[in-house]
Amino acid sequence: MTKVLRKTLLSFIIGFLTIGMAAAQQPLLIPGTLSGTDITLNLQNGTYQFYQGINTTTMGANGNILGPTLVLDKGQQVNITVNNQLVDTTTIHWHGMHVSASNDGGPHTTIAPGTSWHPAFTVMDKAGTYWYHPHLHTKTNKHVSLGIAGMIIVKDEEESSLDLPRTYGVDDFPLVIQTKDFDADKQIVVPSNSDDVVMVNATIDPYLDVPAQVVRFRLLNGSSQRVFKIGLSGNNTFYQIASDGGLLSEPLALTRLQLAPGERAELLIDFTGKEGQSLQLMSYAAEFPNGIYGATNPGMMSNMTLNGYNPNPLNGANFNIITFNVGSMNNNPVTSIPAQLVTLNPIPESEATTTRQLTFTPEQMGPNQLNGKFLINGVSFNMDVINYSIPLGNTEIWVLKNQSAIAHPFHIHDVQFYVLDRNGVVPPPEEQGRKDVILVKPQETVRFIASFDDFANDSVPYMYHCHMLTHEDMGMMGQFEVVDNTTGVNNNNIEVGGVTIYPNPSMGDFLTVTSDESNLRSITIYGLTGEQLLKRQATGNNLTKIDVSTFTSGLYLIKIETEKGDVVKKVVIK
Ligand code: C2O
Ligand code: CU
Ligand code: CU
Repeated sequence: MTKVLRKTLLSFIIGFLTIGMAAAQQPLLIPGTLSGTDITLNLQNGTYQFYQGINTTTMGANGNILGPTLVLDKGQQVNITVNNQLVDTTTIHWHGMHVSASNDGGPHTTIAPGTSWHPAFTVMDKAGTYWYHPHLHTKTNKHVSLGIAGMIIVKDEEESSLDLPRTYGVDDFPLVIQTKDFDADKQIVVPSNSDDVVMVNATIDPYLDVPAQVVRFRLLNGSSQRVFKIGLSGNNTFYQIASDGGLLSEPLALTRLQLAPGERAELLIDFTGKEGQSLQLMSYAAEFPNGIYGATNPGMMSNMTLNGYNPNPLNGANFNIITFNVGSMNNNPVTSIPAQLVTLNPIPESEATTTRQLTFTPEQMGPNQLNGKFLINGVSFNMDVINYSIPLGNTEIWVLKNQSAIAHPFHIHDVQFYVLDRNGVVPPPEEQGRKDVILVKPQETVRFIASFDDFANDSVPYMYHCHMLTHEDMGMMGQFEVVDNTTGVNNNNIEVGGVTIYPNPSMGDFLTVTSDESNLRSITIYGLTGEQLLKRQATGNNLTKIDVSTFTSGLYLIKIETEKGDVVKKVVIK
């Protein structure tokens, strides 16, 4: 059979199944909202009926599945209580929001079962769609796949002044799009490359009744791995108005939009005059080139397999995500698409003072590479190693080089960035707004620019990582901290041969070792009689923090091996 014929037959069968299942369509679940200064999230184990009459084991926030949508105003203070009522340790991260690292909920900020975490911060973000999810190292995929994920809607004056739909659940809807794998007992399998069930807001085969007017949808790809190519049935036009970090400068008339794991997009669909009709939001994944999770082949070369990936009717095929049934217009409808949105202030390339190159490689080359680990600059994530120390106020260009055979959605905490180029070419308009996730295709080089203007000298680092949760959990992640060198370094710091050790005497639990002339190799601490007390590898990094909280107070010798030679000094540990 020719490939075209096979595809036609396949879509015929899928079409037939869809018609056959039409009666089983379920109304879209719309999570409730929480707003105000004090917000409580109770993380809990539960069960949920994805399939009628069958209990699936899940995790959720304030319920059995997903979590409430948090609606916040820019400039407001928010005090959050996260009660961990799960039987497992976890964390909660506010993806895309600009908060200090200790409020950020990364892998260092663990919440033990039966305990609570109390982040508190001022909302500094622009109006947009953000989200929250667990971020415990090696278990992010499990906790997200079992169900914990919620949306965050930030509002601001700039957005309020525009004629846009903004009544939640009426003309403004969250769409958390995910694929999951269910076993024969309808339990969620994690990790898995056999995610053949599509759901929106935890609803399989959903429909939504929409009014015959302009409706706003906030899309989040909350899948562990799958990339979607969003489009409407009949190739109808929709308008993208926002990317990850807020509104674009003007609505973009599109028929397709790529959405990788972690990415958000706000869309307007004009249903005016369509009363009585149905439209489908689709993923046109048949259009993906190989080398993207969701294409016919997940690797660039057809001999590259990913365990469990085939057969899966979603791969390389077009499929339905949600059906919109258009009803009558409601009160105060928005009936036109605005011409302009907001003024974006992309950072000029000339403002960058530092360039960092991050190269993605498979741990093992060859046709089996998709099943293994992926590395950033040759190393896997290490909780004890700070990969980059970024001076406060720095504007930086990060060069992402993908030397592997699969596309990786790269995400960075703390900042929103602007994409400068893809392989030297200006990105398409949908990638010209504020972003915190960018899909880097095989053999591609993507450059972005960002400024690190706040939150220096925090006690915990920020993460950057691949947002394919399987890759992240296997260590495709690194961490950075923002340092204010005018306050972070005191007078007794040891500076020799380009190496700085601070603070000396130590304060708190950590000694920090940085090098600005060459990369570090290892750090060893000896007692004054020469016995080795601690050795830490630091290959390829220019900053490492050593936990010295278990040392008794006194004088020690510290030896730092760098690529340019060794340094030995005395330090006081308090
Ligand atoms: Cu959405 Cu580091 O995460
Ligand atoms: Cu994040
Ligand atoms: Cu990846």
